[in-house]
Amino acid sequence: MSNVLLGLTGSVAAVKAPELAAALLAKGHAVKAVATDAATYFFNPAALGCELVRDADEWPGERYERGDAVKHIELRKWADLFLIAPLDANTLAKLALGLCDNALTCVWRAWDPAKPVVLAPSMNTLMWENSFTRRHLRSIAADFGAGHIPGHLDQNQLVPVMNDRCKGLRVAAPVSKALACGDVGIGAMADVATIAGMV
Ligand SMILES: Cc1cc2nc3c(=O)[nH]c(=O)nc-3n(C[C@H](O)[C@H](O)[C@H](O)COP(=O)(O)O)c2cc1C
Repeated sequence: MSNVLLGLTGSVAAVKAPELAAALLAKGHAVKAVATDAATYFFNPAALGCELVRDADEWPGERYERGDAVKHIELRKWADLFLIAPLDANTLAKLALGLCDNALTCVWRAWDPAKPVVLAPSMNTLMWENSFTRRHLRSIAADFGAGHIPGHLDQNQLVPVMNDRCKGLRVAAPVSKALACGDVGIGAMADVATIAGMV
């Protein structure tokens, strides 16, 4: 079994964080979590059942002292696999662009490409359908060696192509349902069993 680092971002689907962590633990994985500040609005850290690293943990004291922990690098070294579920639109954009302004995106930016990652996007339908999503997924696909992808493919068509061609990357396609905001359409995070199975 593996050391799974669970990345949590500020999608309403982060309410499922305890369920997802439990599913991974039940499969025998060791689990640690890293959450954005927005993510922690959606779940009770005490219910997570594993260590949780927040941005505040990266900057614990008055001033850095030589020898202090660099949490995002420690997490990177510990983890065999990085799962980001839910992956919201904001962090998807940061992953695609290489921005690293919090612990979670620093792990991504410092990630060892020899280790696999699993992404589970979760966002409102119009966010998912926005052309930014397509551009950001295409950029990540290119980074993972997908090669030429025909320009006409939309985000829903891109996901299976990425899963087919990207070494070390799997994307759990968002599903269609009535979303928390009341809209109906594609954008909801894949179910917990699907994501845990993909890991
Ligand atoms: C109640 C609520 C629900 C949200 N749900 C989502 C969501 O499902 N997907 C998404 O992309 N953004 C969602 N957002 C917006 C993100 O939380 C926002 O973009 C935030 O800046 C993301 O920060 P992070 O990427 O650092 O976690 C939601 C915001 C609120 C207030």
